[in-house]
Amino acid sequence: MQENSKKILVTGGAGYIGSHTVVSLIENGFEVFILDDFSNSHVESIRRVEQICGTSIDFLEADVGDEAAVRGIFEANDFYAVIHFAAFKAIGESVQQPLRYYQNNVSGALNLLKVMDNFDCRRLVFSSSATVYGDPSSVPITESFPLSATNPYGQSKLMVENIMRDLYRADQSWQLSILRYFNPVAAHQSGLIGEDPSDIPNNLMPYISQVGVGRLDCLSVYGDDYNTPDGTGVRDYIHVSDLANAHVKALQALNSEHGCESYNIGTGQGYSVLEMVKAFERASGQTINYKVMPRRGGDVASCYADTRKSTEHLDWKAEYDLDRMMQDLWRWQSKNPNGYA
Ligand code: UD1
Repeated sequence: MQENSKKILVTGGAGYIGSHTVVSLIENGFEVFILDDFSNSHVESIRRVEQICGTSIDFLEADVGDEAAVRGIFEANDFYAVIHFAAFKAIGESVQQPLRYYQNNVSGALNLLKVMDNFDCRRLVFSSSATVYGDPSSVPITESFPLSATNPYGQSKLMVENIMRDLYRADQSWQLSILRYFNPVAAHQSGLIGEDPSDIPNNLMPYISQVGVGRLDCLSVYGDDYNTPDGTGVRDYIHVSDLANAHVKALQALNSEHGCESYNIGTGQGYSVLEMVKAFERASGQTINYKVMPRRGGDVASCYADTRKSTEHLDWKAEYDLDRMMQDLWRWQSKNPNGYA
């Protein structure tokens, strides 16, 4: 099959990582169909992707757990593969509402896999997270580190990974790729699409950028007494466009490989909270007010990836550096101070 005739179903394709991945797919000659329930995304993001790519995109508003809807899409389209993003992702909320999280994230994936099997479409790239490494005993983290989860969100990601591994054990015609994201940040270089949290952001970079644009007053730095060079937490921040490209590479790798493989998707480089604040100030020219607060429960001191496996197997490597991440984040946030609203 020619690449340009390959149609990909992207669940959650209107979301932050999904929308950037749709851009990469189209730029690489794939055709895309988006399934999204817009529970944490906007139809406007699809319009913006159409503007970036100069093409129209088919989509359906439905829940990935809606079997009739998912069947209907497979009846009407001949998909080469699926990239599955659609899931809830707020850790705190997952602790408060575990049933809702398991229902959406685990049942949704089960429904999708069942329909894929029925329609003989057995290629899947799954959106997982470094959260499946729990509290890692050392850094950098390789894919063979022990897996665990400390909250229902993380459990739901781990459960879907386990389902995929069991599925391959039972039927070796599946071609499955698990991408474990480190900390996705930034936005497409056009400034047209980016992260648009529906509430006060939980994650560091959207919080900083909303302080930068004047929507929030002051950043709380959660802990400055970690065993790290400046005492603040160290993470592996990766440009969302690099992350998007990893999905294209994972799809291309599925071409030749049967199996269920997991890959770390990060830069391999850790930065502290205060380094991120400084880098954002450099790129934006804004001053970020912050105060040091006690540690946030569940946080680890340092988390960054060993990326050798993804470099070798997927022929993929992150290309954007920290300053570029900040410039692209600031372009998105300053052009869209209220997100897509
Ligand atoms: C979090 C999730 C992780 C998820 C990822 C998605 C937790 C425990 N983990 O990772 O499962 O895959 O988001 O992006 O929530 N920080 C502040 N002030 C803030 C916000 C964060 O100082 O207002 C610090 C944190 O303490 C941490 C760093 O910034 O050191 C990054 O935090 P965050 O962006 O929330 O990501 P993670 O916690 O690494």
